[in-house]
Formats: sequence, C-alpha cells, structure tokens
Amino acid sequence: MANATNRKITLAARPVGYPKESDFAMVEEPVADPGPGQVLIRTLWLSLDPYQRGRMSAAKSYATPVDIGGVITGGIVGRVEQSNNPKFKAGDFVEGWLGWQSWAISDGNDIRKVDPDLAPLQTALGILGMPGMTAYFGFLEIGLPRPGDTVVISAASGAVGQLVGQIARIMGCRAVGIAGGADKCAYIRDELGFDAAIDYKGEDVEAAIARHCPDGVDVYFDNVGGTITEAVLKNLAKFARVVICGQISQYNLDKPDLGPRNLRFLLVNQARMEGFLVFQFADRYEQGMKRIAGWIKDGRIKYREDVVDGLENAPKAFIGMMEGKNFGKLLVKVAEV
Ligand SMILES: NC(=O)c1ccc[n+]([C@@H]2O[C@H](COP(=O)([O-])OP(=O)(O)OC[C@H]3O[C@@H](n4cnc5c(N)ncnc54)[C@H](OP(=O)(O)O)[C@@H]3O)[C@@H](O)[C@H]2O)c1
Repeated sequence: MANATNRKITLAARPVGYPKESDFAMVEEPVADPGPGQVLIRTLWLSLDPYQRGRMSAAKSYATPVDIGGVITGGIVGRVEQSNNPKFKAGDFVEGWLGWQSWAISDGNDIRKVDPDLAPLQTALGILGMPGMTAYFGFLEIGLPRPGDTVVISAASGAVGQLVGQIARIMGCRAVGIAGGADKCAYIRDELGFDAAIDYKGEDVEAAIARHCPDGVDVYFDNVGGTITEAVLKNLAKFARVVICGQISQYNLDKPDLGPRNLRFLLVNQARMEGFLVFQFADRYEQGMKRIAGWIKDGRIKYREDVVDGLENAPKAFIGMMEGKNFGKLLVKVAEV
C-alpha cells in the first residue's frame, strides 16, 4: 500500500511478574502489498485479553509463545483494503488473530467476515466473539446449569464473567458475582440483574459466599483461581461443577502459587472440576453467536465495553487489565472505519 506505515507492537522483553511498558516496543515499517491469494487489512479494533499474558511467557502452554521482537498475538476487526483472494473484496469487514498492529496481511484462512449490520463491529471481539463463546459454551457445556442452581462467577464484571451471570439468570439460576470494587459490584447487581455481588477487595469472600449461598454453590465459573477460588471451594454444594475457565490471579506470579493439597471438598460433595479451552467448541460458534445475538435483541443480555483510543496505548491498557482497571470488555480503537 503506497506510503502507508504499519505500526506494530512487539515483545521487547519477556515480562517478569506484572508486565511493564518497557516489555513492549512500537516498531514502524512500510505496509507491504498483498501477494497472490492474500488480503491486506487495516485494523479498526484490537482486543486485549488475559491469555495474551501467557503468550508473552516462555512457559509451556497450549499455544506457542510470541518470540522476542514478534508482534503480540491478538484478535482484531479490520477492513479489507486490497484483496487478491476471491473470497474477500475491498470494503469487507473481517475478524482474525492478526496481532497488535495497524495493518496486516492474511491468506484468507485465518479471518472470517463480520456483518456490520448485525451488531457493532467490535462485538465480534467481545460478546459475539471469543469471550462470548467462552462464557456461553463454558457455562452451558461444562457447568451444566439446572434451574434453581446457585452459580458463583469470579471476575464477574469482565468480558466473560458479565455474560456468564446473565446466562445463568436466563437459565433460571441464582447468579452471585465476585468482582473488585463497589462500582463493579453495583454494576453486576443493579444493571445486569445478578442476585448478589461480593467485593473481594472489601469483604471476607468465604463468609460472603456462605451468606449469599446458604445451600452451597452448585456451579462455580472460575476466572481467577487463587484465594478467591479456595474460598468458593469451601462452600460447594453436593454434585457441584467447578468450571476452570481462567486463573488470572496466577498469570503474573514469579513463582507458582500453592494450591489446595487436600481435595476433600470435591470428595465429600461428589463434585467435579473441569478445565476447558473455548476452541474445543469452535465448530459450534455460529450457534452460540445466534443465541447471544437473540438475547441482546430481546433486551435480556446487556454488555459493557471499555474502549481505549490508539494502538500506542495498548500496552498500558493491557497492564491495567492485569490490575483490574478495565471495566467490561477491553478494546483498543485503532482507526475509524
Ligand atoms: N478457557 C478459555 O478458553 C478462556 C477464554 C477467554 C478467557 N479466559 C479467561 O477468563 C478470564 C476472564 O477473561 P476476560 O477476557 O473476561 O477478562 P476480564 O474479566 O474482562 O478482565 C480481567 C479481570 O480479571 C480481574 N483480575 C485481575 N487480576 C485479578 C486477581 N489477582 N484476582 C482476582 N481478579 C483479578 C479484574 O477484575 P476485578 O477488578 O474484578 O478484579 C480484571 O478486570 C481470564 O482468566 C481469562 O484468561 C479463558
């Protein structure tokens, strides 16, 4: 693309503990022309997600880490500016894992079209994207909720958590959210209709769960791990299902935390704990998206986004998310349509 510059954020150093701005670098290069079969995409929205912390680390995980000097992994929504691929044309909007950069080239296999008339474009990265699918399939398929169940959700005001609680209500369950701070708690209780909210920064979580869940916790949707999760596990109901979705309290630790060595709470409650990765449900995303879109249309599901302007602000916003500064799905607006 003549005269255009690609701005990309690369990994300058592997973070030790909490990431810092010096772990990232902004690199500029001319935008290349797409080759045969390729598509040139201008990024409009970038998604910031906790899993990206794992990609910055060399520790063994389910995906290969970003190399030092490599573009940080990330989902984007963009506009096709040039296409040599018959499946896409200039002006199409697409979503894909094209990284923290203002332009990208794709061979067309790692992107999907997004319909701008269906919902705001950026929802393809949030409520109708990966976090939405995580909440929907993780809760329904692993949590196996039944009407009347008491469901506890950690990181309850975040991209995944806010949706899990609302789906729990739709399924006839009681939803109890755990979040950091009075504002987030007021939001999930008063705006989203959770039955109760626990401020883990301001109250004794174990006592609050016992108070709000007198018959025990039937489903725990765990986004955080650590001491919050230990407090929930002490309050499980018989045949409880513990869904291990995320462990954000552990992502920035230098040394692994000590977990519970005594799993008696699972034994005596005949309970089950199961981890999942959203990709295992990839062949059913369309079904999940349709259902969530229907609930949004009917006014049964609300969603909150936290939008940061400018690609250059992505590192600071990402670091903030690791400290709970985001309030809702964290997105970077990279460019206007
Ligand atoms: N299994 C999968 O396939 C899958 C897919 C997507 C996401 N996830 C996981 O789901 C979780 C939520 O992701 P998201 O995208 O919805 O992020 P998010 O909840 O929108 O943002 C992260 C939130 O985590 C909370 N947090 C940060 N550090 C914490 C700590 N030490 N203890 C307790 N809470 C802490 C903060 O909220 P507070 O202010 O409330 O502390 C922060 O706002 C993450 O663990 C993520 O890795 C898993």
